[in-house]
Amino acid sequence: MMFTTIDWENAINIRRSARSFEMRPVEESKLELLQSFADKMEIPFDHDVKIRMFKANMDKKLYTVFASPPDGMAFLANTDTCSVAAVGFVGELLILYATSLGLATCWYGHYALSELERIMPHLGKYAEQPMPKWGYGKGETDGERAVCITPLGYWQKEGVRFFDRVTETFISYKRKPVGALLENGMTEESLPAELLYAFDLARKAPSAANSQHWRFGVSDDFKTITITMPVGYKHMKWEHPNVDLGICACHFWLGLRLKGIDCKVSLSEDQGRAVWKFEV
Ligand SMILES: Cc1cc2nc3c(=O)[nH]c(=O)nc-3n(C[C@H](O)[C@H](O)[C@H](O)COP(=O)(O)O)c2cc1C
Repeated sequence: MMFTTIDWENAINIRRSARSFEMRPVEESKLELLQSFADKMEIPFDHDVKIRMFKANMDKKLYTVFASPPDGMAFLANTDTCSVAAVGFVGELLILYATSLGLATCWYGHYALSELERIMPHLGKYAEQPMPKWGYGKGETDGERAVCITPLGYWQKEGVRFFDRVTETFISYKRKPVGALLENGMTEESLPAELLYAFDLARKAPSAANSQHWRFGVSDDFKTITITMPVGYKHMKWEHPNVDLGICACHFWLGLRLKGIDCKVSLSEDQGRAVWKFEV
């Protein structure tokens, strides 16, 4: 499939959250490529994530801090721990593919739900219930929701506000080193080169508020790797940290594939958090 024709490592290294867009639509040909990628992509585990493209109004209603470009993409799924984590994995593949097409994106959890429902009806009978203002809600819901969305378009660099420039320079780009994320006394130096490479891509994953709450577990024989977060981890502002674990797992999986390493991927819930397991 298209896997080998895409420079995933480059996409990971150049992707940034864009919060200022040119007000022009994405070319139809690129939207078709995205849709066909979404239809055909191989995901190494069972999941129920659905991708929907939408057209947005060019005002600040949807993202509130910046004006929406004409195009966007939503990641829908059930909202149990594993489904939400799968959104991170599947959604990040699409975000990286969009990046490789020259498109700017921004993972967005705190979109305005009523505006999304207006431009992309998806709530069905739940639309009659009281709606949260930002995102789909705090806990598990009945039925599918748009777990996160992203604008799709072209980054307008001149339009970046001072605040965003500061955020981009001092918060966004910063990532923890692999060594700080390894559990049980494992060190970077002791890792086989291929694993270190995959962890290096994993640590570069985006996370809400750049919290990087993922932690890496490696068995003594280097054959089993887990990606999860500390039990009881909570973030003040972001209610769905399992999404971010899925994004990180996606980068790790891409890293293994780029090194030609086959692995079995499984996703389960343990003590309220998603646990990604890779057996190589
Ligand atoms: C799951 C998820 C949800 C996010 N939600 C928002 C959001 O609601 N608003 C926002 O401005 N940025 C949001 N972000 C973007 C993060 O702030 C950004 O990814 C992080 O600061 C790292 O910066 P980078 O993406 O430029 O590498 C979200 C990111 C992720 C992964």
